[in-house]
Amino acid sequence: MLITAAQGIKAEGQLAEDTRVSLGLTTAERVEFLAEMRQMLASIQGIIAGIGAEDRERIIEAARYSGNRMARATPASVRAKLPTEFQEIGGPTHMLFEEIVIRAETDDMASLAELTGRTMQNCLACHAQFRAD
Ligand code: HEC
Repeated sequence: MLITAAQGIKAEGQLAEDTRVSLGLTTAERVEFLAEMRQMLASIQGIIAGIGAEDRERIIEAARYSGNRMARATPASVRAKLPTEFQEIGGPTHMLFEEIVIRAETDDMASLAELTGRTMQNCLACHAQFRAD
């Protein structure tokens, strides 16, 4: 699935309607949830910087933060609220970070960049569908 930056943006001067599905989180759950999201952004930053510097250790360390460890750390109360469509994107996203960890040992930097780009398609797909309130 290819999602373009233009999706959801309306003609100039018009306010776009928010059609994303609310996850129904409490304020505390939202704080925790968004902190995890910012950690995923930090992982992507570290991976890209690592690819640029051809620093495999940096890529591995950055990717590991958002892999299975983060999947396991999701609080049960949040997990219980996440719809199936959300979990079907979220689970594989953590697995893709684990794949980056493994492939960073051996793969060339171009294919790691390609895998990172593919991982980020999941960020875009989920962000287009859900909001955390
Ligand atoms: C399965 C769903 C899902 C996936 C996958 C996902 N996100 Fe999110 N993310 C969300 C939702 C929902 C929000 C809240 C959006 C809102 O309420 O406007 C969010 C918010 C964020 C925010 C804003 C944090 C803040 O403090 O406001 C960042 C940054 C972010 N995501 C980064 C990422 C990155 C990077 C990836 C991919 C590596 C990613 N997300 C993957 C669902 C997801």
